[in-house]
Amino acid sequence: MENIQVNRLLLVCQNRTCRKQGSVKVLTVFQALNIPNIKVEKSGCLGKCGSGPIVLVLPDEVWYSHVDVQSISAVVEQHLLD
Ligand code: FES
Repeated sequence: MENIQVNRLLLVCQNRTCRKQGSVKVLTVFQALNIPNIKVEKSGCLGKCGSGPIVLVLPDEVWYSHVDVQSISAVVEQHLLD
């Protein structure tokens, strides 16, 4: 059995307001990147609807707002590669 180690969970809000702001595409790109030790999941509303798409990294509790496809690589480089 393969032992997959997951250090962090990255949630991408897929509720209505964030979806209108492009969160489906953001989720698709994060999933396609297959970042080591990061589990990517969609989530319901994270309570910050005006600033979407919202991304939350756990257990760090680091929030990213207005995440678009162009800013994904910055999130990955700053936070997810270590
Ligand atoms: S709809 Fe995404 S935070 Fe509320």
